[in-house]
Amino acid sequence: MHMPYQFAHRMEAAPESFLDTLFAVSSDPSIISFAGGLPSAALIDVKGIAEAAAGVMAEDGKAALQYATCDGHLPLREWIADRYRRRLGLPARAEEIRIVNGSQQCLDLVAKIFCNPSDAVGMERPGYLGAVEAFSLYEPAIYGVPLAPEGGPEMEAFSRLLTEKSPVFFYGIPNFQNPSGTAYPEAVRKEAGTLCREAKVPFYEDDAFGELAFDGRARPPVKRWAGEFGIMSGSFSKTIAPGMRCGWLWAPEEIITTFDVAKQAADLHSNHLSQMILHRYLTTHDYDAHLTVVRSAYAKNCRLMSDLLDERLPACTHTRPGGGMFMTAALPEGVSSMDLFRAGLSQGVAVMPGRPFFADGGGDDCFRLNFSTAGEEEIKEGMARLARALASLVR
Ligand SMILES: Cc1ncc(COP(=O)(O)O)c(C=O)c1O
Repeated sequence: MHMPYQFAHRMEAAPESFLDTLFAVSSDPSIISFAGGLPSAALIDVKGIAEAAAGVMAEDGKAALQYATCDGHLPLREWIADRYRRRLGLPARAEEIRIVNGSQQCLDLVAKIFCNPSDAVGMERPGYLGAVEAFSLYEPAIYGVPLAPEGGPEMEAFSRLLTEKSPVFFYGIPNFQNPSGTAYPEAVRKEAGTLCREAKVPFYEDDAFGELAFDGRARPPVKRWAGEFGIMSGSFSKTIAPGMRCGWLWAPEEIITTFDVAKQAADLHSNHLSQMILHRYLTTHDYDAHLTVVRSAYAKNCRLMSDLLDERLPACTHTRPGGGMFMTAALPEGVSSMDLFRAGLSQGVAVMPGRPFFADGGGDDCFRLNFSTAGEEEIKEGMARLARALASLVR
């Protein structure tokens, strides 16, 4: 039936969303899903967050429930700046930090302030699907730079992109990237940051997974070399609780001033109650001890999934993440990831097909696996099902 609504042209630029299918899959209890990207529910510190929430309500309830300023809760911004200084040795200041409703909002607002239609934007190939979705609404030309097998963008292609296309920014995930789980080697961080600074192209560094390094070691961010052309976002979603919808942007003050205009227009300010609860949680509970537990659980799941891939699906070469929540695996020649997705569902297991992670096409020969959501037994059973699904396609 013809609909009477005339939507804006920009909505036509949005890629076909795979999310409906994913939600259908994750609500079917008979299917073991490695397709989504949820942090482990078992590792959310409900008791600790409840204590923090009760404390905020008892002592500061009226302020927590009132309108607040666009920039975000100052003590939380100070806490974040202090962690950058201590963990990474970088001179972050609270004035350069803004709180957002999940780092996904940064993707929208950064694209909103930098992109005119047809402007070039660079990103990793494969890259984060949610970024492709957010950027697309501003109608840029998205250029993917292939990831090198050892991690990080292929530097020759990266450098060519900067000089030939002059992108308004390059978006990358140097730590345990979604979807591959790979990380940029330090030399690549240095080169990417230096090239961006010299070309005056902002490097937008999404650090959703930096705190989830299995070895607990902080890697130096690209921003260290990109300087005033370094923009970083972070999030408490993967480390504390995604339902709090709390992330942040760290950028030079000139960018922050423009960002504030977009943020104010979008939602006045981020959820103030969440910010106050998080700050109280961070200052009254042992965040580092919590992170140690999360990292070791994900490291164990990752190892188990890697070993089972080697053992049960030896034709699928795969990445070996040192952190984060995802890995990708390549399919034997002639097998498409959509076929594996469908065959998997009929065996009771879901994986994420590769195609949505390739902004400019391709990706049918690989798939993404999430190792944070399922427990040990589910991983074992799910991988057995996946092996049967693949066998049904290569017979
Ligand atoms: C790389 C990356 N960036 C950003 C996000 C958005 O997370 P949030 O908005 O919960 O901070 C995600 C979520 O999966 C992600 O994987």
